[in-house]
Amino acid sequence: MLRIAVQAKGRLFEDTMELLAEAGIKLSSAKRTLLIPARNFPVEVLFLRDDDIPDSVASGVADVGIVGENEFVEKEKAAEVVKRLGFSKCRLSLAIPKDEDYQNLNWFQGRKIATSYPGILSSFLKKNGIKADIHVITGSVEIAPGIGLADAIFDIVSSGSTLVSNRLKEVEIVMESEAVLIANPRLSTEKKEILEELLFRINAVQIAEDKKYILMNVPTDNLEQVLSVLPGMKSPTIMPLATPGWSSVHTVLEEKRFWEIINKLKSAGAEGILVLNIEKMVL
Ligand code: PRP
Ligand code: ZN
Repeated sequence: MLRIAVQAKGRLFEDTMELLAEAGIKLSSAKRTLLIPARNFPVEVLFLRDDDIPDSVASGVADVGIVGENEFVEKEKAAEVVKRLGFSKCRLSLAIPKDEDYQNLNWFQGRKIATSYPGILSSFLKKNGIKADIHVITGSVEIAPGIGLADAIFDIVSSGSTLVSNRLKEVEIVMESEAVLIANPRLSTEKKEILEELLFRINAVQIAEDKKYILMNVPTDNLEQVLSVLPGMKSPTIMPLATPGWSSVHTVLEEKRFWEIINKLKSAGAEGILVLNIEKMVL
């Protein structure tokens, strides 16, 4: 049994649950108790506050965890990043009142900065030779300048709307972050095997993510022209249609490529083009 620590609520919760579901892990209870075993895979999910995930994995309370990289780096716990998950992307930035004139980092010399990430901030300031007063607060960091508690903030920025509504502007990006899968470095062989299987499934979901399965009907005489514009994973599948002189072409391609080649396909005589989502893909 592999125990996975995940965020009980907040920015990673929904994407994490979706990833586990797509990896075919069905949780046996709809209600969110602290610990829920899966019905069809040897894992159990432990719901925690995101702050507690790095330590729970490092100490072995959980075997692996899904957490924001920002949280993991801040806590400096002895766990390993085994996979970057590509969702919940954000950045950790310094922001100041929007009407302030800003040239460079020296603005922060001797200022008071509110944050929930004192570790990352102090090493950044130290590296850049800035002496500032770090004021640690755990929530609603963005209101600190407005109420006179600090001159600036260092916090997560995603869409940027929190900054705008608090009349702040982002002036320095200190770190880019996304969800990561972390693991305890001393897993048993049995647990490592389950983790391998989990990673295999996550990879299959990720590979499929921006790929589409496309089908189209093509006059057989134009096949060569159509095939020359299809990038495909391997060579496409070609099947004769019941109507003589026509073939059906199937292939897999990246969604962004589709928009590049759609007109070429049409001018090569392709008709009835269907684009389907791929749920999983194993290479
Ligand atoms: C973070 C951060 C901001 C907000 C930024 O909070 O503290 O409040 O997200 O996102 P935006 O740029 O899209 O507006 P989070 O949602 O993680 O909640 P928390 O601060 O309560 O942990
Ligand atoms: Zn937070």
